[in-house]
Amino acid sequence: MSHADSTPTSLRQRDPDVAAWLQREDRRQASTLTLIASENHCSAAVREACSSRITDKYAEGYPSRRYYGGCEVADGLEDLARQRALRLFAGAEEANVQPHCGTTANLAALLALAGPNGRIVGMALKAGGHLSHGHDKSHTGMVFQARQYGVDAQGRIDLDEVRKVVLEHQPKVLIAGGSSYSRTIDYPAFAAIAKEVGALLLADIAHPAGLMAAGVVPSPVGIADVVTMTTHKTLRGPRGGMILCTKAVAKAIHSSVFPGAQGGPLVQQIAGKAVAFGEALQPEFRAYQQRVLDNARHLAACLQERGLDIVTGGTDNHIVLVDLRRTDVTGAEVEERALAAGLAVNKNAIPGDPRPPMVTSGLRLGTPAVTTRGFGKEQIATVADVIAGLVQRQDPDRFRPVVQGLCEAFPLP
Ligand SMILES: Cc1ncc(COP(=O)(O)O)c(C=O)c1O
Repeated sequence: MSHADSTPTSLRQRDPDVAAWLQREDRRQASTLTLIASENHCSAAVREACSSRITDKYAEGYPSRRYYGGCEVADGLEDLARQRALRLFAGAEEANVQPHCGTTANLAALLALAGPNGRIVGMALKAGGHLSHGHDKSHTGMVFQARQYGVDAQGRIDLDEVRKVVLEHQPKVLIAGGSSYSRTIDYPAFAAIAKEVGALLLADIAHPAGLMAAGVVPSPVGIADVVTMTTHKTLRGPRGGMILCTKAVAKAIHSSVFPGAQGGPLVQQIAGKAVAFGEALQPEFRAYQQRVLDNARHLAACLQERGLDIVTGGTDNHIVLVDLRRTDVTGAEVEERALAAGLAVNKNAIPGDPRPPMVTSGLRLGTPAVTTRGFGKEQIATVADVIAGLVQRQDPDRFRPVVQGLCEAFPLP
């Protein structure tokens, strides 16, 4: 079986249509450099666990307290995942590994802490926050009374503004974290603001979870009351969510996940999370995360050398947000041209973006996936050359051989 075909023989024989689609995805990933900050390539071991027979099992409830018989294996796997999560994020008192995704984790946590119609404060989507932090198109913006804070003209969180919004709105929950925020968040300062009004602090570390688990950037674990995350971004696990919390709120969190927000947990994904957490506990994981960080800093510096603006002037994590306002291209255009060259990137609104969300004046880049493939500074500099060329409207076909060469020299795990 080549790198570009992970489809089992039995599937190819039984259902050639689905197998062909999956094979096509293998080829797409193998021949594309993923610079989408929220994606990564998990290990073959994680994928194997997620496609195991435990996918058949219903296990509503929690270990030793299930609503179905025959859950001893589900119990063992969930306990293992929880124990490994607590070792990985030392200082957390409880872990819930059941959320199907980051959005469900946030919804369940917010319902547990604020209750329906409760007041919450989070970062606005257009400033770099996430839909599930109170955006009006998300249930979190409908079920709760949400207010949002933005960023300053340089693209950084302004703690004075956060404090002002919190004092005015008197929320039950203050949310810290985002989807395209590339700078260190001052969690102790957020905790102090929350404390002033008796609010709880929820830190959403969906993006930097892996960097935090490895200890290469500051973590909110031990500071925030609740920490939500996805397991498939920098953490390099299977698609899913997780919640860490203090003992004080654990009961409310667990019952908000089940039976509040979900039915039976996806035990195959929990098995995959356990594998990923085991991998993250190995020393190599720290080295990988340090390279993710070094590569992101290098990418920002290389792009700046090639004349591009970076929001906030750099990065403290795996995200590099390019500001295209001084160029004559939009985020959507560069996204499309990059794909033609073999780079997967995503258009992204930048703070104060004059263009609509489907066009944007920004580009969000991330280094987790290419670092998994083994990229170092030399390859990152080549990627910066390609991006700078695409922004200057050079023909994407010109870059295709360079990108293909990198894909072949640095295969998928
Ligand atoms: C900060 C943040 N929270 C939550 C989520 C939601 O995760 P999911 O797509 O798994 O629902 C994301 C996803 O991008 C995110 O960036």
